[in-house]
Amino acid sequence: MLVYLNGEFLPLEQARISPLDRGFLFGDGVYEMVPFYHGIPFLFEEHITRLGRSLQALDIKNPLTKDQWKAIVHTLSEQASLPTHNIYLQITRGAGLSRQHQYEDGLEPTVFAMVTNMRLLSDAEKQTGLRAVTVPDERWQNCYIKSLNLLPNILAIQQAYVQQAYEAIQIHQGYVTEGASSNVFIVKQNILFTPPKTAEILWGITRDFVLSLARKHHIAFEERALNEDELYDADEIWITSSGREVVPITRLNDHRVGDGEVGPIWKKINASYENARNAC
Ligand SMILES: Cc1ncc(COP(=O)(O)O)c(C=O)c1O
Repeated sequence: MLVYLNGEFLPLEQARISPLDRGFLFGDGVYEMVPFYHGIPFLFEEHITRLGRSLQALDIKNPLTKDQWKAIVHTLSEQASLPTHNIYLQITRGAGLSRQHQYEDGLEPTVFAMVTNMRLLSDAEKQTGLRAVTVPDERWQNCYIKSLNLLPNILAIQQAYVQQAYEAIQIHQGYVTEGASSNVFIVKQNILFTPPKTAEILWGITRDFVLSLARKHHIAFEERALNEDELYDADEIWITSSGREVVPITRLNDHRVGDGEVGPIWKKINASYENARNAC
């Protein structure tokens, strides 16, 4: 597999970084995930804008221009084995002279990119929906930054995995924040609800796109804090992410969501989402 590292395209086996790289030592860096459908990136501008925001929040200078990012994602996508995939982009603060917490000025960021698989739902999963479990949100207060520090997210999804669930929905002080790697929506009495874009969640590109589809289809929506009871009481629950799209959750812990069936509003938004990314 060909990957990109610091200006070069090379086989993965030949890609090397310094053990003093701050991404390796501290998780000091950010990442982004750009979905590709048949050779075309979906919502590329939005992903690159968010990457810039994450870098700025960590005081790391964006090492490449938008056109340079575009050239890298296209080159990697062209040699991907599957037509639908993600391009993973990672920038770390770079390697310092020693392992010290504070960073020196003028470090050269490490830039890495590669193709990763997308895990889209099977037709059977679209018929039945999937199961999520709730877990406490144990993360820091700057979750709008797409940082490499994913330990709480990893522990959360592992809890879901051992309980044979598809996603872990995180709860902070009684309120829904987001999935381990997704945003959360609920439907109640034909109104769509999702938590607002505060620092407590990642500002999902799919989330925003879903809201634009809701607007287009005249589905009423509200961006507001959702408490855990509202999650249990919802008619529909969905989770969204670029790599998984819009996923219906029909079981929450040991409860049915609504009537336990995939809901009509999900069907409408999902069909619209699939149309949009097929036409991209
Ligand atoms: C914590 C978290 N929230 C939300 C999302 C969804 O974001 P997007 O729709 O931009 O993929 C992700 C995606 O990986 C994530 O890791």
